Amino acid sequence: MATILREWSYRYPWFYNAISWLAALSVGGEQRFRQLALTDIEMTSDMEVLDLCCGNGQATRYLVQHSSKVTGLDASPLAISRAQQVAPDAKYIEGWAESMPFPEQRFDVVHASVALHELQPVQLWRTLQEVHRVLKPGGVFTFVDFHPPFHPLFNVSLGLFILLFETETARQFLKTDVADLLVRVGFRQTRRLLYAGGSLQVIQTYKVEP
Ligand SMILES: C[S@@+](CC[C@H](N)C(=O)[O-])C[C@H]1O[C@@H](n2cnc3c(N)ncnc32)[C@H](O)[C@@H]1O
Repeated sequence: MATILREWSYRYPWFYNAISWLAALSVGGEQRFRQLALTDIEMTSDMEVLDLCCGNGQATRYLVQHSSKVTGLDASPLAISRAQQVAPDAKYIEGWAESMPFPEQRFDVVHASVALHELQPVQLWRTLQEVHRVLKPGGVFTFVDFHPPFHPLFNVSLGLFILLFETETARQFLKTDVADLLVRVGFRQTRRLLYAGGSLQVIQTYKVEP
């Protein structure tokens, strides 16, 4: 079930931004939230970076501060046109995460911000395979997304958030052991960082050198 609020959040960028600003307070604010997945990732300006499911570019605008070679990919042309305004220094491509229009070993970093929970289980599996394919050996996949909270207060707030803004895919995602999927796809050296009473996770994982 999703409410009218979800539709509004996609229709009105100011509404989406206000909701994410509010949610970001749980980790110390928007700026920190948008760069959470970059924790301990060493990026240089010549690194090829993919912002997977970039949406309106709210995380892309921070990625372009680290690299001059950022590409945003999203299935929605409307989201891409908004991202072009928000983070004009990135390149954008319309496409599906589960069948990306990129050659093998194109990127040093693949980043995804609160996006994987939007995917159906089969799409998620294919997307992880695609991320592995487009990463260079030694490259890192880093993402931030929901996680089942360990703190009762965050259990309530995440439950409410999902009820108001999300669909069944988010509930499925919370039951999914993504770290296990990543190992099955071929990723190694996976680490998980938890924030906001466990309601947010950052996973960072590497494509190993052959
Ligand atoms: C919740 S928004 C997150 C956007 C952005 N990463 C952020 O942090 O604000 C999810 C985005 O994923 C995109 N999306 C959903 N399924 C997709 C798919 N299968 N392939 C590509 N993009 C997809 C949607 O169009 C939407 O822009």
